Amino acid sequence: MARASWLPGRARAPRVPRSFRILTGDRPTGPLHLGHYFGTLQNRVRLQDLGADVLVLVADYQVITDRDASAGLGAHVLGLVADYLAAGIDPARATIFAHSQVSALNQLMLPFLSLLSVAEVGRNPTVKEEFAATGGAAMSALMFTYPVHQAADILACRANLVPVGKDQLPHVELTRTIARRFNQRYSPAGPFFQLPDPLLGAAPLLLGLDGQKMSKSRRNSIPLAATEDETARLIRAARMDAERQVSYDPAGRPAVASLVLLAALCQRRAPAEVAADIGSGGAARLKATVTQSVNEYLRPLRARRRELAADRTYLQTVLRRGNGRAAALADDTLRQVRELMHTSY
Ligand code: TRP
Repeated sequence: MARASWLPGRARAPRVPRSFRILTGDRPTGPLHLGHYFGTLQNRVRLQDLGADVLVLVADYQVITDRDASAGLGAHVLGLVADYLAAGIDPARATIFAHSQVSALNQLMLPFLSLLSVAEVGRNPTVKEEFAATGGAAMSALMFTYPVHQAADILACRANLVPVGKDQLPHVELTRTIARRFNQRYSPAGPFFQLPDPLLGAAPLLLGLDGQKMSKSRRNSIPLAATEDETARLIRAARMDAERQVSYDPAGRPAVASLVLLAALCQRRAPAEVAADIGSGGAARLKATVTQSVNEYLRPLRARRRELAADRTYLQTVLRRGNGRAAALADDTLRQVRELMHTSY
């Protein structure tokens, strides 16, 4: 399972990442928010700065698993590129690409599908949940097979480390199964695919402003690109309890604790200290603190993002260059896969 033998930011990290090729990605369904930032974006930048080869995937083909309209996708894709760059992903070192633009990646899905049974794919927890939620009838066949497509993302780029949340661990496990079977069936002389490892980070648990799981679709998050006024408005509307004494108690008072944690992350301080500072100031004082901390923390990022968003041509250039690099990797993988499969004529 997870081999997070070191955690980002720890002292022993620097000697490790140079041999790592890391793939992570996001669905372009809307702007990234603070949960993404503290949960994964910051970590990607750190890994990049430690010298790892970081590939960031704009998973546009995953968006059409559960929606039929792809209008507006273009804006979301470039918005995501702007979020990445503003957060510190450096296009000179890292690779940002969209999987619809990398033909060889998509072609790998076909042999990979042949290595799995329908029953196995159906046992993937995300697929299973979706099947249960829709009764199967409304579920697209792409939704059914999307974890296999995700395996193609990872193996096409020959990534060996995949930073993921817990919900994505079964996808990495499936990727390992595919790699293992491909090696057994087609590469008897020695393994062709390296089995990728998941990296479970120590992501802080930020809840949404309604106290529920933070998510783009629930509209309970603070987008990185929000203005300072929008941020203030969102935080003012956050759900709180009536207790005036502010404390950091994630189990007992999850909504309050999440706001305290957010302020603490932005102030780079311990949550308990931040809570002690606010003391009996209640909701008003806590919310004012969070608003100010978030806005100050994000100010430089937002300034960069505004400039980037105004330069569509630049964002496109970055993405196209990334698509080109990913295509070179995937073409090379596909060429070797064809040779091993005796389908190179
Ligand atoms: N499924 C991931 C998500 O929803 C996005 C993703 C697509 C991904 N392909 C990937 C993540 C490959 C890691 C590696 O967040």
